[in-house]
Amino acid sequence: MNSSTDNNTYNNSDNQSENSSDKHSRAAHEGAVNESTTHFGYEQVRAEEKAGKVAGVFHSVAGSYDFMNDLMSMGVHRLWKRYTIEMSGVRSGQRVLDIAGGTGDLAAKFSVLVGDCGEVVLADINESMLKVGRERLIDRGVLSNMEYVQANAECLPFPDNYFDCITIAFGLRNVTDKEAALRSMRRILKPGGRLLILEFSKPVTPGLGPIYDMYSFKLLPLMGKLVAKDDASYRYLAESIRMHPGQDELKTMMEDAELERCEYFNLAGGIVALHRGFKL
Ligand SMILES: C[S@@+](CC[C@H](N)C(=O)[O-])C[C@H]1O[C@@H](n2cnc3c(N)ncnc32)[C@H](O)[C@@H]1O
Repeated sequence: MNSSTDNNTYNNSDNQSENSSDKHSRAAHEGAVNESTTHFGYEQVRAEEKAGKVAGVFHSVAGSYDFMNDLMSMGVHRLWKRYTIEMSGVRSGQRVLDIAGGTGDLAAKFSVLVGDCGEVVLADINESMLKVGRERLIDRGVLSNMEYVQANAECLPFPDNYFDCITIAFGLRNVTDKEAALRSMRRILKPGGRLLILEFSKPVTPGLGPIYDMYSFKLLPLMGKLVAKDDASYRYLAESIRMHPGQDELKTMMEDAELERCEYFNLAGGIVALHRGFKL
């Protein structure tokens, strides 16, 4: 498959592979979403506005994203990502999609694991993030088995039953229609394939909540202001985390999307959780 930054390489998107009753229910669902409002952080916005606002955040932070990630998590995001890789069970020769992959931390590691006979697709809706990711991976010599695709997680432009593993790290909370994204990801998983969702979640360790709140609403925007010259994007980060479904709710959403053997693992006292489900 050729290297690509657009989605023309893969001609089978969710809409194309659906039968007509699926199309009708999807159209009805989209209609419902379109007429409704959703949240962008704590702000209520029209559902169709959210993707543009999220795009503004990531266009703004793309250049400083990696540095800010290390700073905000004191490097711990690397451990969460390493755990995700371990739990993925990805092996040589497999095909992996990292959607909302941003600057490519997971994709770089998968590239080594799948080897030359495997394939990794780094996909993101945002061209600025994808550009930083692509340049970074090329600089690191990750070339032969890597594809770059600009795509929306809600309607992924890949054939049915295509990937052995899909990961989405710190991306799902930014997606407007999470149910559509879960269905889309399930559709393109091979039978036996697994979806791993690494995302901020709800602290479960007693006493952690107030400390975490202070950190998120005071320190994060301050760091954003000083380093990235953008406190609003980091306030959005804190707010979007609070609006994201908790551990059990997300697990139920995965089950509703017909993923099986769904489970989650709390990390850092539940500040982050790794959810995993299979298409069987
Ligand atoms: C916080 S970054 C995470 C990047 C990377 N996965 C990581 O863990 O460092 C969130 C990413 O989700 C992407 N994103 C937001 N909405 C998306 C959507 N609907 N489809 C695909 N990617 C999306 C953003 O462009 C951004 O690159």
